[in-house]
Amino acid sequence: MPWILPVARDGVDGLRQTGGITRQDDWIVQADVREPGRVLGHPETRRLVDFTEPVALLVVGVLLLVSDEDRPGELVATYRERLAPGSLLAISHIADEHAAPGVRAEVARLVDACAAADEYVHVRTHEEVLARFEGTRLVEPGLVFLPDWRPDSPAERESAARPLGYGGVAEVG
Ligand SMILES: C[S@@+](CC[C@H](N)C(=O)[O-])C[C@H]1O[C@@H](n2cnc3c(N)ncnc32)[C@H](O)[C@@H]1O
Repeated sequence: MPWILPVARDGVDGLRQTGGITRQDDWIVQADVREPGRVLGHPETRRLVDFTEPVALLVVGVLLLVSDEDRPGELVATYRERLAPGSLLAISHIADEHAAPGVRAEVARLVDACAAADEYVHVRTHEEVLARFEGTRLVEPGLVFLPDWRPDSPAERESAARPLGYGGVAEVG
């Protein structure tokens, strides 16, 4: 799987700001992920992605910015249905249900600050994120706190931010 095809609403500048890319790339798909028809039909998507072969769909740090009204479940399903058997679906998502009260208050402040800047962050539960994997088979260790997903060292699991995000990878088809 040699290609990473980034999709960004804000294009190159937005990806640079979030560290998504570090060099000039002219093959980024500038589109809204909530419009799968545009993303999947984009000339660069069609040029670079062979959907008859297994690919990895990385939905990383994105669904937190998709509201329930935009039906994130249907959205992920629409992309997933295009993937060939053997493809992988990775999802990460902000969470706080198992964080200490003080940390949850910090998360709430962050959400409020983002909303004040017209960026709406949606904190979701394990059950809600797990539902995004419908129709797939999660690989071990399943949908877990991010530092618990195959850590390189035990120290990673001691992060204070451990309960603030879930991540999982699943096989499709
Ligand atoms: C938290 S960052 C994560 C970036 C990258 N996936 C990563 O893990 O480093 C969220 C990114 O998604 C972009 N974004 C937010 N809503 C989007 C949408 N509806 N369509 C496309 N990109 C979107 C933001 O502009 C930002 O670049």
